[in-house]
Amino acid sequence: MYLAREDRYGSMPYRRSGRSGIRLPALSLGLWHNFGGVDTLTNSRAVLLRAFDLGITHFDLANNYGPPPGSAESTFGQVLASDLRVYRDELIISTKAGYDMWPGPYGEWGSRKYLLASLDQSLRRMKLDYVDLFYSHRPDPETPLEETMSALDHAVRSGKALYAGISNYDPAQTQRAIEILRELGTPCLIHQVQYSMFNRKPEQGLFAVLNHEQVGCIAFSPLAQGLLTDRYLKGLPADSRAARSVFLKPEQITPQVLEKVRSLGEIAKQRGQTLAQMAVAWALRIPVMTSIIIGASRIEQLEQNIGALNNLAFSTGELGAIDQILAAPATAHA
Ligand SMILES: NC(=O)c1ccc[n+]([C@@H]2O[C@H](COP(=O)([O-])OP(=O)(O)OC[C@H]3O[C@@H](n4cnc5c(N)ncnc54)[C@H](OP(=O)(O)O)[C@@H]3O)[C@@H](O)[C@H]2O)c1
Repeated sequence: MYLAREDRYGSMPYRRSGRSGIRLPALSLGLWHNFGGVDTLTNSRAVLLRAFDLGITHFDLANNYGPPPGSAESTFGQVLASDLRVYRDELIISTKAGYDMWPGPYGEWGSRKYLLASLDQSLRRMKLDYVDLFYSHRPDPETPLEETMSALDHAVRSGKALYAGISNYDPAQTQRAIEILRELGTPCLIHQVQYSMFNRKPEQGLFAVLNHEQVGCIAFSPLAQGLLTDRYLKGLPADSRAARSVFLKPEQITPQVLEKVRSLGEIAKQRGQTLAQMAVAWALRIPVMTSIIIGASRIEQLEQNIGALNNLAFSTGELGAIDQILAAPATAHA
């Protein structure tokens, strides 16, 4: 029987999400890959429980995570039932709806019909009465933003979610979504956005909106799906994401990318870190950043990445050197 470690809250920092009552662990764990029906339950369970023992209280899911879609929520539901149920009040469990989930016109995007049906399905798969956080996974260019936001508001008012969030919205859409949610009386808890040394787009306006509105931010793919680690320095491992998943393609691992990875690795070494650890620390340097969501295919990666917390500070010189490497020409980033 699993018993959580008593010292689990000893070293993880918890940061407040905007102007809300919620603090999230500096590192959260995402279940996009490695927790699906194609993966081994024993390993998925071991990673989840190790994460909780290390102070990770936030687990990030979506309706479509797997593969197959839905299976990551089923896996999480199984581990909840077998091990984590008694710790439910110590957990922030999020899920999302937005991408293609079921056939027909009501199985994706941002209608009230889709979002609320999807949330019910997610709750059934995880065997939960409520999730802590429910996201609109992506903006829908055709559905009025008012409809999508009012569906999030309804999810919260019905007690099936405690908080509402948005993901992948651009700065103008974010501004408007925050305003609508505020008017409805269900403030936006957090924005989930891709951010890493290989994708700095949120620096062009999104962080400013969130900072101004005092809404939290949580970054996904801080390691650029594994590129910002030593994973691909000696070729393409058969068990790696680039070899197994359609979301990271071997063609993305160009000599130019590897050259940058090596140069960044040198800076990390001088900081006494691995590149993965420096990438985590680098994303956490943004003041509005509440948490970053890492992925891990094994316990060792999780443990290594959490080690980033031992050195979160960057000198101006280090930041400048990193900028220079990233700005070098001939990029073919993920
Ligand atoms: N809102 C959205 O639209 C959206 C989109 C994408 C992701 N997300 C969320 O963000 C979470 C994280 O995304 P992500 O998995 O792409 O994050 P990531 O942390 O950038 O990449 C994780 C992958 O990198 C490799 N890795 C991790 N630590 C390593 C280490 N120390 N050394 C070597 N390789 C390492 C592993 O891949 P291997 O399999 O190769 O070992 C691992 O699965 C997702 O699970 C999901 O919850 C949200």
